[in-house]
Amino acid sequence: MKKARIIGTGSYVPEKVLTNFDLEKTLDTTDEWIVARTGIHERHVAAEGEFTSDLATNAARKALEMAGVAAEEIDLIVVGTITGDFPWPATACLVQSNLGIKGCAAFDVSAACSGFLYALDAATKQIQSGAVKKALVIGAEVLTRAIDWQDRNTCVLFGDGAGAVVLEAQEGDQGVLSTHLHADGSYWELLYQPGFGSRFPASAEGLAERLPFLKMQGNEVFKVAVRSLHEVAVEALEANGLVASDIDLFIPHQANRRILEATAKRLGLRDEQVYINVDRFGNTSGASIPIALDEANRLGRIKAGDMLLFDAFGGGFTWAAAMVRW
Ligand code: ACO
Repeated sequence: MKKARIIGTGSYVPEKVLTNFDLEKTLDTTDEWIVARTGIHERHVAAEGEFTSDLATNAARKALEMAGVAAEEIDLIVVGTITGDFPWPATACLVQSNLGIKGCAAFDVSAACSGFLYALDAATKQIQSGAVKKALVIGAEVLTRAIDWQDRNTCVLFGDGAGAVVLEAQEGDQGVLSTHLHADGSYWELLYQPGFGSRFPASAEGLAERLPFLKMQGNEVFKVAVRSLHEVAVEALEANGLVASDIDLFIPHQANRRILEATAKRLGLRDEQVYINVDRFGNTSGASIPIALDEANRLGRIKAGDMLLFDAFGGGFTWAAAMVRW
């Protein structure tokens, strides 16, 4: 069976940077509180007229360029997002249109912060089945339009951005070795965006009740996140007969520094094995792993043969891991 090998990475974040000090001017918060609880110093915010599909397309173009692949060669586009341009059509279709191509399959995956790994799993299996030769897998979010800027419990955490990879069917031992997906829908109410869908259709009352904005019970999310991130990372290590010291780079979903450090510590990883950039981007949900991967790749932190472990947790709850030999 052929492997899905990552042959190009790309990422894009909007130009505008919002620092904690900027937030201090409009919110009852401090840089000190945000840094101590989350490790976040700043995040990027999409400009007016800049949409999730734009961020996704920019990231995809960079990944295609690195891969040396023309957009016309792509057989499948999968976008992990919970903040697409529209409820439908899929942002993947908009990306396809932006790239000027037609005909290939294109769909979105809704798995919140685990969205990129769910998308990677879907594309990998299409490649392994022989149905697809080259795929674009993207994580893209404009979360700053889904958060309540009056709610200091949530708005300080999130940022906008996109990351992409090009997968190619290849013989050999490099590529995605395994993917591990999980969900427990009984936790849906701890982290969700209530409106506007079929349960709370669009209404002026709903807007006044702030229903279109993300709601979160942070403490509860934190506890389940640390446990689940650990369990699924161990599952990925065991499935590949590996131990923590075999991992060259651990790239977790960048939720906040405390969650990442707690997870890394429980796994017994050394600091130099863990990639963290949440300080500069905040939590970009489905985009955080491919942004971190692209940054690490372009900084030369990854070399051929390296073993990479991706690990994510998000609303649903969903959680997932993937083991990749570079
Ligand atoms: N600035 C100042 N004070 C604040 C702020 C803020 N931005 N936000 C909350 N507070 C206050 C609260 O009102 C509370 O005050 P009170 O005691 O007077 O009521 C106090 O700080 C402590 O609040 P807690 O919610 O207990 O703070 P906690 O230490 O749990 O930190 C946080 C909150 C950072 C959200 C934490 O729970 C967390 O990281 N949870 C994980 C959530 C997460 O990462 N979600 C992202 C999506 S899921 C994922 O990506 C993994």
